Amino acid sequence: MSVRRIALVAALGGLLFGYDTGIIAGALLFARDTLTMSSFEQGLVVAMVPLGAAFGALFAGRLGDRYGRRQVILAASLAFIAGSFICAIAPDVPVLAAARFLLGIAIGFASAMCPVYISEVAPPKERGRLVSLFQLAVVVGILIAYLVALALDHAEAWRWMLGLGALPAFLLGLGMLRVPASPRWLAMVNRDEEARMVMASLGMTDEEIEHELTTIHEGLRTERATWADLLKQPVRAALVVGVGLAILQQVTGINTVIYFAPTIIEFAGVTSSSAAILSTVGIGVVNLIATIVAVRLVDRSGRRPLLIIGISGMILALLALSLAFGLDPDANGGLTAPLTVVSLMAYVAAFAISLGPIFWLLNAELYPLRERGAAASAGTTANWASNFAVSLTFLPLIDFLGKSGAFGFYAVVGVIALIFSIALVPETRNRSLEEIEAIWRKRAGMAE
Ligand code: BGC
Repeated sequence: MSVRRIALVAALGGLLFGYDTGIIAGALLFARDTLTMSSFEQGLVVAMVPLGAAFGALFAGRLGDRYGRRQVILAASLAFIAGSFICAIAPDVPVLAAARFLLGIAIGFASAMCPVYISEVAPPKERGRLVSLFQLAVVVGILIAYLVALALDHAEAWRWMLGLGALPAFLLGLGMLRVPASPRWLAMVNRDEEARMVMASLGMTDEEIEHELTTIHEGLRTERATWADLLKQPVRAALVVGVGLAILQQVTGINTVIYFAPTIIEFAGVTSSSAAILSTVGIGVVNLIATIVAVRLVDRSGRRPLLIIGISGMILALLALSLAFGLDPDANGGLTAPLTVVSLMAYVAAFAISLGPIFWLLNAELYPLRERGAAASAGTTANWASNFAVSLTFLPLIDFLGKSGAFGFYAVVGVIALIFSIALVPETRNRSLEEIEAIWRKRAGMAE
Protein backbone atom coordinates (compact mmCIF):
# COMPACT_ATOMS: atom_id res chain seq x y z
CA MET A 1 0.00 0.00 0.00
CA SER A 2 1.35 3.48 -0.81
CA VAL A 3 2.29 5.87 1.99
CA ARG A 4 -0.50 8.17 0.89
CA ARG A 5 -3.13 5.45 1.16
CA ILE A 6 -1.81 4.46 4.58
CA ALA A 7 -1.98 8.07 5.75
CA LEU A 8 -5.53 8.41 4.44
CA VAL A 9 -6.68 5.33 6.34
CA ALA A 10 -5.15 6.55 9.60
CA ALA A 11 -6.59 10.02 9.00
CA LEU A 12 -10.08 8.50 9.25
CA GLY A 13 -9.43 8.66 13.00
CA GLY A 14 -9.52 12.45 12.55
CA LEU A 15 -12.80 12.26 10.66
CA LEU A 16 -14.39 10.50 13.63
CA PHE A 17 -12.89 13.05 16.02
CA GLY A 18 -14.51 15.81 13.94
CA TYR A 19 -17.83 14.04 13.46
CA ASP A 20 -18.36 13.07 17.07
CA THR A 21 -17.44 16.50 18.43
CA GLY A 22 -19.50 18.27 15.75
CA ILE A 23 -22.70 16.21 15.74
CA ILE A 24 -23.71 16.70 19.35
CA ALA A 25 -24.91 20.29 18.89
CA GLY A 26 -27.52 19.16 16.37
CA ALA A 27 -28.42 15.90 18.10
CA LEU A 28 -28.83 17.53 21.49
CA LEU A 29 -31.67 19.75 20.32
CA PHE A 30 -33.89 16.67 20.08
CA ALA A 31 -32.27 14.21 22.48
CA ARG A 32 -32.96 16.66 25.29
CA ASP A 33 -36.70 16.39 24.64
CA THR A 34 -36.83 12.61 24.17
CA LEU A 35 -34.80 11.97 27.31
CA THR A 36 -36.12 15.04 29.21
CA MET A 37 -32.67 16.36 30.03
CA SER A 38 -31.95 19.19 32.44
CA SER A 39 -29.40 21.78 31.30
CA PHE A 40 -26.85 20.19 33.63
CA GLU A 41 -27.44 16.83 31.95
CA GLN A 42 -27.05 18.42 28.52
CA GLY A 43 -23.72 19.94 29.52
CA LEU A 44 -22.68 16.55 30.88
CA VAL A 45 -23.45 14.74 27.64
CA VAL A 46 -21.44 17.31 25.66
CA ALA A 47 -18.52 17.41 28.10
CA MET A 48 -18.14 13.62 28.33
CA VAL A 49 -16.32 13.56 24.98
CA PRO A 50 -13.47 15.96 25.83
CA LEU A 51 -13.25 14.42 29.29
CA GLY A 52 -13.05 10.87 27.90
CA ALA A 53 -10.56 12.06 25.27
CA ALA A 54 -8.24 13.58 27.87
CA PHE A 55 -8.42 10.32 29.78
CA GLY A 56 -7.95 8.08 26.71
CA ALA A 57 -5.03 10.16 25.44
CA LEU A 58 -3.29 9.72 28.78
CA PHE A 59 -2.96 5.99 28.20
CA ALA A 60 -2.68 5.96 24.42
CA GLY A 61 1.05 6.58 24.27
CA ARG A 62 2.09 3.89 26.73
CA LEU A 63 -0.23 1.41 25.04
CA GLY A 64 1.17 2.51 21.68
CA ASP A 65 4.73 1.86 22.87
CA ARG A 66 3.85 -1.54 24.20
CA TYR A 67 1.41 -2.94 21.62
CA GLY A 68 2.15 -0.70 18.65
CA ARG A 69 0.50 2.41 17.21
CA ARG A 70 -1.64 0.38 14.84
CA GLN A 71 -3.20 -1.73 17.59
CA VAL A 72 -4.21 1.36 19.57
CA ILE A 73 -5.92 2.83 16.50
CA LEU A 74 -7.66 -0.52 15.94
CA ALA A 75 -8.89 -0.49 19.53
CA ALA A 76 -10.10 3.06 18.95
CA SER A 77 -12.13 1.94 15.93
CA LEU A 78 -13.88 -0.72 18.03
CA ALA A 79 -14.65 1.81 20.74
CA PHE A 80 -15.97 4.23 18.09
CA ILE A 81 -18.31 1.55 16.74
CA ALA A 82 -19.54 0.49 20.18
CA GLY A 83 -19.88 4.09 21.39
CA SER A 84 -21.87 5.23 18.33
CA PHE A 85 -24.13 2.22 18.55
CA ILE A 86 -24.87 2.63 22.26
CA CYS A 87 -25.51 6.37 21.77
CA ALA A 88 -28.07 5.50 19.09
CA ILE A 89 -30.05 3.15 21.33
CA ALA A 90 -29.46 4.87 24.69
CA PRO A 91 -32.65 4.56 26.80
CA ASP A 92 -31.66 7.24 29.32
CA VAL A 93 -29.14 9.96 30.18
CA PRO A 94 -26.65 7.84 32.17
CA VAL A 95 -26.28 5.37 29.28
CA LEU A 96 -25.93 8.20 26.77
CA ALA A 97 -23.31 9.92 28.94
CA ALA A 98 -21.37 6.67 29.38
CA ALA A 99 -21.43 5.99 25.64
CA ARG A 100 -20.18 9.53 24.96
CA PHE A 101 -17.36 8.92 27.43
CA LEU A 102 -16.44 5.76 25.50
CA LEU A 103 -16.43 7.80 22.27
CA GLY A 104 -14.18 10.27 24.07
CA ILE A 105 -11.70 7.52 24.94
CA ALA A 106 -11.70 6.46 21.28
CA ILE A 107 -11.03 10.06 20.23
CA GLY A 108 -8.22 10.32 22.79
CA PHE A 109 -6.60 7.17 21.42
CA ALA A 110 -7.02 8.31 17.83
CA SER A 111 -5.84 11.87 18.32
CA ALA A 112 -2.72 10.75 20.19
CA MET A 113 -1.81 7.86 17.89
CA CYS A 114 -3.02 8.58 14.33
CA PRO A 115 -0.67 11.55 13.77
CA VAL A 116 2.24 9.69 15.40
CA TYR A 117 1.59 6.64 13.24
CA ILE A 118 1.49 8.75 10.06
CA SER A 119 4.64 10.66 11.01
CA GLU A 120 6.44 7.34 11.48
CA VAL A 121 5.56 5.94 8.06
CA ALA A 122 6.00 9.20 6.11
CA PRO A 123 9.20 10.30 4.37
CA PRO A 124 10.50 13.69 5.67
CA LYS A 125 9.70 15.56 2.43
CA GLU A 126 6.01 14.72 2.66
CA ARG A 127 5.56 14.33 6.39
CA GLY A 128 3.95 17.72 6.96
CA ARG A 129 1.39 17.19 4.26
CA LEU A 130 0.56 13.63 5.24
CA VAL A 131 0.21 14.28 8.97
CA SER A 132 -1.88 17.38 8.23
CA LEU A 133 -4.33 15.07 6.48
CA PHE A 134 -5.36 14.23 10.03
CA GLN A 135 -6.49 17.83 10.63
CA LEU A 136 -8.10 17.90 7.19
CA ALA A 137 -10.10 14.82 8.20
CA VAL A 138 -11.11 16.46 11.51
CA VAL A 139 -12.48 19.42 9.59
CA VAL A 140 -14.25 17.23 7.02
CA GLY A 141 -15.79 15.32 9.94
CA ILE A 142 -17.06 18.56 11.50
CA LEU A 143 -18.55 19.68 8.20
CA ILE A 144 -20.21 16.30 7.59
CA ALA A 145 -21.67 16.49 11.10
CA TYR A 146 -23.13 19.96 10.39
CA LEU A 147 -24.62 18.71 7.12
CA VAL A 148 -26.02 15.49 8.61
CA ALA A 149 -27.59 17.53 11.40
CA LEU A 150 -29.11 19.85 8.80
CA ALA A 151 -30.44 16.93 6.72
CA LEU A 152 -31.93 15.00 9.63
CA ASP A 153 -33.14 18.11 11.39
CA HIS A 154 -36.85 17.98 10.57
CA ALA A 155 -37.02 14.23 11.08
CA GLU A 156 -35.64 14.99 14.57
CA ALA A 157 -33.60 11.81 14.04
CA TRP A 158 -31.01 12.36 16.75
CA ARG A 159 -30.39 8.63 17.21
CA TRP A 160 -29.39 8.35 13.54
CA MET A 161 -27.17 11.41 13.83
CA LEU A 162 -25.20 9.78 16.64
CA GLY A 163 -25.33 6.24 15.27
CA LEU A 164 -24.01 7.17 11.81
CA GLY A 165 -20.56 7.65 13.35
CA ALA A 166 -20.26 3.84 13.34
CA LEU A 167 -19.87 3.86 9.56
CA PRO A 168 -16.48 5.65 9.25
CA ALA A 169 -15.40 3.77 12.39
CA PHE A 170 -16.00 0.51 10.60
CA LEU A 171 -13.95 1.74 7.63
CA LEU A 172 -11.15 2.83 9.96
CA GLY A 173 -11.07 -0.63 11.56
CA LEU A 174 -11.08 -2.44 8.22
CA GLY A 175 -8.39 -0.14 6.86
CA MET A 176 -6.14 -0.50 9.90
CA LEU A 177 -6.23 -4.28 9.54
CA ARG A 178 -4.60 -3.85 6.14
CA VAL A 179 -1.89 -1.25 6.79
CA PRO A 180 1.56 -2.23 8.11
CA ALA A 181 2.77 -1.60 11.66
CA SER A 182 4.84 1.57 12.13
CA PRO A 183 8.40 0.66 11.06
CA ARG A 184 9.89 2.95 13.68
CA TRP A 185 7.90 1.27 16.41
CA LEU A 186 9.00 -2.15 15.10
CA ALA A 187 12.62 -1.01 15.31
CA MET A 188 12.00 0.36 18.79
CA VAL A 189 10.87 -3.05 20.02
CA ASN A 190 13.78 -4.71 18.21
CA ARG A 191 11.78 -6.28 15.40
CA ASP A 192 14.28 -5.04 12.81
CA GLU A 193 13.55 -7.66 10.18
CA GLU A 194 9.89 -6.63 10.03
CA ALA A 195 10.87 -2.96 10.15
CA ARG A 196 13.12 -3.54 7.11
CA MET A 197 10.29 -5.20 5.24
CA VAL A 198 7.84 -2.39 5.95
CA MET A 199 10.37 0.30 5.04
CA ALA A 200 11.14 -1.50 1.78
CA SER A 201 7.43 -1.72 0.98
CA LEU A 202 7.21 2.05 1.56
CA GLY A 203 9.78 2.54 -1.19
CA MET A 204 12.93 3.20 0.86
CA THR A 205 16.26 2.02 -0.57
CA ASP A 206 18.45 -0.52 1.31
CA GLU A 207 20.90 2.23 2.12
CA GLU A 208 18.21 4.49 3.55
CA ILE A 209 16.80 1.62 5.58
CA GLU A 210 20.12 0.71 7.19
CA HIS A 211 20.88 4.37 7.90
CA GLU A 212 17.45 4.79 9.49
CA LEU A 213 17.77 1.67 11.64
CA THR A 214 21.23 2.63 12.88
CA THR A 215 20.07 6.12 13.82
CA ILE A 216 17.00 4.75 15.55
CA HIS A 217 19.02 2.28 17.62
CA GLU A 218 21.62 4.90 18.52
CA GLY A 219 18.84 7.14 19.76
CA LEU A 220 17.20 4.39 21.81
CA ARG A 221 19.70 2.30 23.73
CA THR A 222 17.65 2.14 26.91
CA GLU A 223 14.31 0.82 28.15
CA ARG A 224 10.88 2.25 27.29
CA ALA A 225 10.23 5.76 28.55
CA THR A 226 8.33 6.49 31.77
CA TRP A 227 6.46 9.69 32.64
CA ALA A 228 9.44 10.83 34.72
CA ASP A 229 11.68 10.55 31.64
CA LEU A 230 9.67 13.31 30.00
CA LEU A 231 11.08 15.80 32.48
CA LYS A 232 14.69 15.02 31.59
CA GLN A 233 16.52 16.97 28.90
CA PRO A 234 16.38 17.05 25.93
CA VAL A 235 12.76 15.84 26.02
CA ARG A 236 11.75 18.54 28.47
CA ALA A 237 12.68 21.25 25.98
CA ALA A 238 10.47 19.58 23.35
CA LEU A 239 7.66 18.96 25.82
CA VAL A 240 7.45 22.63 26.78
CA VAL A 241 6.82 23.48 23.13
CA GLY A 242 4.41 20.58 22.50
CA VAL A 243 2.30 21.00 25.63
CA GLY A 244 2.46 24.80 25.32
CA LEU A 245 1.02 24.64 21.80
CA ALA A 246 -1.55 22.04 22.91
CA ILE A 247 -2.93 24.47 25.48
CA LEU A 248 -2.61 27.56 23.28
CA GLN A 249 -4.46 25.78 20.44
CA GLN A 250 -7.50 25.65 22.72
CA VAL A 251 -7.30 28.73 24.93
CA THR A 252 -7.25 31.01 21.88
CA GLY A 253 -10.92 30.03 21.65
CA ILE A 254 -11.38 27.89 18.53
CA ASN A 255 -14.09 25.71 20.01
CA THR A 256 -16.16 28.63 21.21
CA VAL A 257 -16.74 29.03 17.47
CA ILE A 258 -16.82 25.36 16.40
CA TYR A 259 -19.22 24.36 19.19
CA PHE A 260 -21.19 27.59 19.65
CA ALA A 261 -21.22 29.28 16.21
CA PRO A 262 -25.02 29.45 15.90
CA THR A 263 -25.25 30.92 19.39
CA ILE A 264 -22.60 33.57 18.62
CA ILE A 265 -24.36 34.46 15.37
CA GLU A 266 -27.64 34.80 17.24
CA PHE A 267 -25.88 37.09 19.72
CA ALA A 268 -25.13 39.34 16.74
CA GLY A 269 -28.84 39.84 16.19
CA VAL A 270 -29.57 37.15 13.58
CA THR A 271 -32.89 35.79 14.75
CA SER A 272 -33.68 33.15 12.12
CA SER A 273 -32.27 29.83 13.25
CA SER A 274 -31.88 28.57 9.68
CA ALA A 275 -29.75 31.64 8.83
CA ALA A 276 -27.62 30.87 11.89
CA ILE A 277 -27.23 27.22 10.88
CA LEU A 278 -26.45 28.16 7.29
CA SER A 279 -23.74 30.59 8.42
CA THR A 280 -22.37 27.77 10.55
CA VAL A 281 -22.13 25.51 7.50
CA GLY A 282 -20.36 28.43 5.76
CA ILE A 283 -17.83 28.50 8.60
CA GLY A 284 -17.32 24.74 8.18
CA VAL A 285 -16.64 25.24 4.47
CA VAL A 286 -14.15 28.06 5.11
CA ASN A 287 -12.43 25.82 7.66
CA LEU A 288 -12.11 23.08 5.04
CA ILE A 289 -10.79 25.32 2.27
CA ALA A 290 -8.18 26.96 4.50
CA THR A 291 -7.05 23.57 5.79
CA ILE A 292 -6.52 22.36 2.22
CA VAL A 293 -4.35 25.43 1.65
CA ALA A 294 -2.34 24.59 4.77
CA VAL A 295 -1.85 20.96 3.73
CA ARG A 296 -0.45 22.15 0.41
CA LEU A 297 1.85 24.73 1.96
CA VAL A 298 3.18 23.08 5.08
CA ASP A 299 6.11 21.23 3.47
CA ARG A 300 6.92 24.07 1.09
CA SER A 301 6.80 27.16 3.27
CA GLY A 302 7.48 25.38 6.55
CA ARG A 303 5.67 25.25 9.89
CA ARG A 304 6.82 28.54 11.40
CA PRO A 305 5.66 30.99 8.71
CA LEU A 306 2.18 29.42 8.68
CA LEU A 307 1.99 29.48 12.45
CA ILE A 308 3.09 33.09 12.77
CA ILE A 309 0.96 34.47 9.92
CA GLY A 310 -2.08 32.44 11.01
CA ILE A 311 -1.95 33.42 14.68
CA SER A 312 -1.53 37.09 13.70
CA GLY A 313 -4.68 36.72 11.58
CA MET A 314 -6.52 35.11 14.50
CA ILE A 315 -5.64 38.06 16.74
CA LEU A 316 -6.91 40.58 14.19
CA ALA A 317 -10.14 38.63 13.64
CA LEU A 318 -10.73 38.36 17.39
CA LEU A 319 -10.23 42.12 17.74
CA ALA A 320 -12.75 42.63 14.93
CA LEU A 321 -15.24 40.37 16.75
CA SER A 322 -14.68 42.27 19.94
CA LEU A 323 -15.30 45.49 18.02
CA ALA A 324 -18.45 44.10 16.36
CA PHE A 325 -19.96 43.30 19.74
CA GLY A 326 -18.76 46.60 21.15
CA LEU A 327 -20.63 48.65 18.54
CA ASP A 328 -23.96 50.11 19.44
CA PRO A 329 -26.43 47.96 17.42
CA ASP A 330 -28.87 50.84 17.00
CA ALA A 331 -26.28 53.30 15.76
CA ASN A 332 -24.29 51.12 13.34
CA GLY A 333 -26.97 50.45 10.76
CA GLY A 334 -27.03 46.66 11.20
CA LEU A 335 -23.27 46.25 10.84
CA THR A 336 -22.89 43.88 13.80
CA ALA A 337 -24.27 40.77 12.11
CA PRO A 338 -22.22 40.86 8.87
CA LEU A 339 -19.09 41.98 10.70
CA THR A 340 -19.54 39.09 13.12
CA VAL A 341 -19.99 36.44 10.45
CA VAL A 342 -17.05 37.73 8.37
CA SER A 343 -14.79 37.94 11.44
CA LEU A 344 -15.77 34.44 12.52
CA MET A 345 -14.87 33.14 9.08
CA ALA A 346 -11.56 35.00 9.02
CA TYR A 347 -10.74 33.70 12.49
CA VAL A 348 -11.47 30.08 11.55
CA ALA A 349 -9.47 30.41 8.31
CA ALA A 350 -6.49 31.83 10.20
CA PHE A 351 -6.70 28.98 12.76
CA ALA A 352 -6.98 26.43 9.96
CA ILE A 353 -3.65 27.46 8.39
CA SER A 354 -1.84 27.61 11.72
CA LEU A 355 -2.64 26.24 15.18
CA GLY A 356 -5.13 23.72 13.75
CA PRO A 357 -2.92 21.49 11.64
CA ILE A 358 0.48 22.59 12.97
CA PHE A 359 -0.19 21.62 16.57
CA TRP A 360 -1.13 18.04 15.61
CA LEU A 361 1.81 17.85 13.26
CA LEU A 362 4.36 19.11 15.78
CA ASN A 363 2.87 16.93 18.52
CA ALA A 364 3.70 13.93 16.34
CA GLU A 365 7.14 14.97 15.11
CA LEU A 366 8.78 16.99 17.89
CA TYR A 367 9.72 14.18 20.26
CA PRO A 368 12.54 11.65 20.29
CA LEU A 369 11.36 8.13 19.37
CA ARG A 370 11.83 6.64 22.82
CA GLU A 371 9.62 9.27 24.44
CA ARG A 372 7.34 9.93 21.46
CA GLY A 373 4.41 7.82 22.66
CA ALA A 374 4.33 9.21 26.19
CA ALA A 375 5.05 12.80 25.14
CA ALA A 376 2.43 12.84 22.36
CA SER A 377 0.01 11.49 24.97
CA ALA A 378 0.86 14.31 27.34
CA GLY A 379 0.32 16.91 24.59
CA THR A 380 -2.98 15.36 23.54
CA THR A 381 -4.24 15.14 27.13
CA ALA A 382 -3.33 18.79 27.71
CA ASN A 383 -5.18 19.70 24.51
CA TRP A 384 -8.41 17.92 25.51
CA ALA A 385 -8.29 19.11 29.10
CA SER A 386 -7.95 22.71 27.85
CA ASN A 387 -10.75 22.10 25.36
CA PHE A 388 -12.95 20.93 28.24
CA ALA A 389 -12.06 23.99 30.34
CA VAL A 390 -12.73 26.48 27.53
CA SER A 391 -16.05 24.91 26.50
CA LEU A 392 -17.18 25.00 30.09
CA THR A 393 -16.12 28.59 30.79
CA PHE A 394 -17.12 30.29 27.53
CA LEU A 395 -20.69 31.22 28.43
CA PRO A 396 -19.79 32.23 32.03
CA LEU A 397 -16.90 34.32 30.60
CA ILE A 398 -19.41 36.21 28.47
CA ASP A 399 -21.55 36.85 31.54
CA PHE A 400 -18.48 38.15 33.33
CA LEU A 401 -16.66 40.22 30.67
CA GLY A 402 -19.45 40.79 28.15
CA LYS A 403 -19.24 39.57 24.54
CA SER A 404 -16.83 42.24 23.42
CA GLY A 405 -14.65 41.67 26.49
CA ALA A 406 -14.63 37.89 26.06
CA PHE A 407 -13.33 38.04 22.48
CA GLY A 408 -10.88 40.75 23.51
CA PHE A 409 -9.64 38.33 26.16
CA TYR A 410 -9.05 35.59 23.56
CA ALA A 411 -7.17 38.16 21.44
CA VAL A 412 -4.81 38.83 24.34
CA VAL A 413 -4.24 35.08 24.73
CA GLY A 414 -3.55 35.07 20.97
CA VAL A 415 -0.73 37.55 21.51
CA ILE A 416 0.81 35.17 24.06
CA ALA A 417 0.51 32.34 21.50
CA LEU A 418 2.25 34.51 18.91
CA ILE A 419 5.17 35.39 21.19
CA PHE A 420 5.45 31.74 22.27
CA SER A 421 5.59 30.55 18.66
CA ILE A 422 8.12 33.12 17.54
CA ALA A 423 10.39 32.46 20.51
CA LEU A 424 10.18 28.69 20.92
CA VAL A 425 8.84 26.71 17.96
CA PRO A 426 11.63 25.26 15.78
CA GLU A 427 11.33 24.77 12.02
CA THR A 428 11.03 21.04 11.30
CA ARG A 429 10.35 21.18 7.57
CA ASN A 430 12.31 18.63 5.57
CA ARG A 431 14.18 17.31 8.62
CA SER A 432 14.10 13.63 9.51
CA LEU A 433 12.60 12.73 12.88
CA GLU A 434 16.13 11.91 14.02
CA GLU A 435 17.42 15.36 12.95
CA ILE A 436 14.64 16.94 14.97
CA GLU A 437 15.93 15.09 18.03
CA ALA A 438 19.28 16.74 17.45
CA ILE A 439 17.65 20.22 17.66
CA TRP A 440 16.58 19.54 21.24
CA ARG A 441 19.91 18.12 22.28
CA LYS A 442 21.54 21.27 20.98
CA ARG A 443 19.01 23.51 22.74
CA ALA A 444 19.53 21.66 26.00
CA GLY A 445 23.28 22.26 25.61
CA MET A 446 24.00 18.56 25.20
CA ALA A 447 26.57 16.98 22.88
CA GLU A 448 25.25 15.89 19.45
C1 BGC B 1 -8.74 21.10 17.30
C2 BGC B 1 -10.19 20.91 17.66
C3 BGC B 1 -11.04 21.82 16.79
C4 BGC B 1 -10.74 21.63 15.34
C5 BGC B 1 -11.45 22.65 14.50
C6 BGC B 1 -8.55 20.82 15.85
O1 BGC B 1 -7.21 20.98 15.51
O2 BGC B 1 -7.92 20.23 18.07
O3 BGC B 1 -10.35 21.17 19.03
O4 BGC B 1 -12.40 21.58 17.04
O5 BGC B 1 -9.35 21.70 15.08
O6 BGC B 1 -11.17 22.56 13.15
